Order: sequence, then C-alpha cells, then structure tokens
Amino acid sequence: MARIDQVAGHHILMESDIPFLPVFKKGKVREVYEIGDYLLIVATDRISAFDVVMKSGIPNKGVYLTKQSAFWFRFLNERGFLTHFVTDDLAEIARITGEKRLLDLPWLAGRTMLGKKANLVPIEAVCRFRVFGSALAALRENKWIWDPVEIEGELAEGALIKNGPVFTPTEKSEHDEKITFEQMANIVGDRSRASEIRDKTIAIFRLVNEHARKTFGFEIADGKVEWGLHGGKLMLIDETFTSDSARFVPDKSKEFFRSWLKKQGTVGTAAVIPDEVALAVADLYAAQCRAMRVL
Ligand SMILES: Nc1ncnc2c1ncn2[C@@H]1O[C@H](COP(=O)(O)OP(=O)(O)OP(=O)(O)O)[C@@H](O)[C@H]1O
Ligand SMILES: [Mg+2]
Repeated sequence: MARIDQVAGHHILMESDIPFLPVFKKGKVREVYEIGDYLLIVATDRISAFDVVMKSGIPNKGVYLTKQSAFWFRFLNERGFLTHFVTDDLAEIARITGEKRLLDLPWLAGRTMLGKKANLVPIEAVCRFRVFGSALAALRENKWIWDPVEIEGELAEGALIKNGPVFTPTEKSEHDEKITFEQMANIVGDRSRASEIRDKTIAIFRLVNEHARKTFGFEIADGKVEWGLHGGKLMLIDETFTSDSARFVPDKSKEFFRSWLKKQGTVGTAAVIPDEVALAVADLYAAQCRAMRVL
C-alpha cells in the first residue's frame, strides 16, 4: 500500500507502492520503477534537506517538481538535446507501456514521468553562476579544485561568478565528493566523453538560465544534471532544474525550508514539519511553478 498522510487537510504521498512493477531505486525523495526499457519516476511529497529526509512532507511537492522537470526536459528536447523524457501524462504512459493498471493508482497522476532507461554516468554534473554553501566554503578554505573563478564584489553567500557558469562536478556517491575534471574523466573512462559532458552541461545551464531570467524572472544560481548513455549517445536523465536539483534567485523553495531548520537548530535531524511551515513551503513551490507558467 502507498503511504498517504494528511498535512493541514491535504493528502500527501509519503511512499509509493506499485506492486506489479520491479523497483529500480528508492531515493530520498523519488521512487523509480522499471517497465521494460523505460523507467517510471515517481516524485513523492517527501522533502530532504542537508541530506536528511523529514518525517512529514509538503502538500503536492511531487506534483510541482514533476511539472518543473517536465517543462525543462521539453524545452531542451525542442532545442536538440537528447533527453530521457518521454511523457508526464499518465494516460500516455499507460498507452506507451501497455501497463493499464497504472490508471488504477489515483495518487500517481501528476507526479510521475516516463524516461528511457540509460546507463548511468556516475557523476553529478554541477554548474554554478553564483557561489553558495559548499562552493563558498571551498573558495574560503582554498579547496577550490575546478576552473578559477572571478568573483564580483565581496566573496559571500550568493556572490556572482563573473566568468560563470563554472563546471564543478562531484562524484555520484553517498557524500557527493568534489572531483576535478581529471578525476571525472577517469570515472567516465573516456576523456572526450568527459569533455562532451562538461560542454553540454555548460551549454544547457546557459540556455536555461537565460530563459529563466528573461521569461520567468528568476535565475538558476546553481544546480546539477545527470547524464547517461543510451544507444552509444549521451542522454540527459534524472530530473532537471527542479527545486530539489537547482537553486533559484530569488529563492522560491528550499532556502526558506533550510533556514527554518537552522532557526530550529534541527539541521541534520528528521523533523516533523509544522502545518504552517509545510503550507508556506508548498506555496513557494507553487509560486515557482506559476512563474514558469506550468501551474
Ligand atoms: N533515464 C535513466 N536511466 C538510468 N538511471 C536513471 C535515469 N533517470 C534517473 N536515473 C537514476 O535513478 C535514480 C533516481 O533516484 P533518486 O534521485 O531518487 O536517488 P539518488 O539520486 O540515488 O539519491 P538522492 O535521493 O540523494 O537523490 C538516480 O540514481 C538516477 O541517477
Ligand atoms: Mg538523485
């Protein structure tokens, strides 16, 4: 049975359950199932911060994040980038996969997308226009291992990288260790493929950031994408430019929640989120979607 809780009168999906499909991966927030050559990616309403999943969720978060991701996948598909995205329409998913039983799961609608299964390239392709968090710490502690950056004004949280976006990959593992381009090339096992990943990641970040700034009124300050190989070609996979995989300026989501945790002094623990905080976070996610005109 799927676990559906109540938060402030809303149903929230805490855990999915699709008994007739094999589980591919259950992550902190999303749960992925296999359907033949495809993956069915289900976004729950769970929220994680500082690597810890909270005990309660955010109303409709999975729906909002699916809308964001689907928008950017379509945007990139239209601009000639190969992506795993097939559709986020449940009826269409059932039709393509022949898996009609999916239509009997009412909690699934709006929070799932079908992707083509790829061979994962185990790195997180992070790119930054501004320095926040661990990037700021790395600069301050002289532990910056990537291309040199020119910072506008004072080195502080959110400072602009004048020569951005800068590619700052990490290993895809428990703790997402920072890696240099050389280390990444070793992991990828092919230098020219590694260059292709870097160049395409930078190109995508430029395109998406420009569109978000000009059309939607926010910046993509930093974020990560993931890549896989499909039929010998590099393919963009996972999720794209969601509130869980990117940081927006002005902030419309995670930062608010992170600062609430900090104020409580509960960073690093699984908190039960009070209703009013959950609703405020949900409102921010919704506002982000409205800015993108997907809600
Ligand atoms: N098209 C695809 N082909 C193969 N693997 C994919 C594809 N799209 C996404 N994935 C993988 O599916 C998984 C999605 O799980 P999820 O993001 O929830 O967990 P995670 O990244 O392992 O952990 P975390 O919860 O920290 O994000 C990731 O490992 C991602 O790399
Ligand atoms: Mg992930």
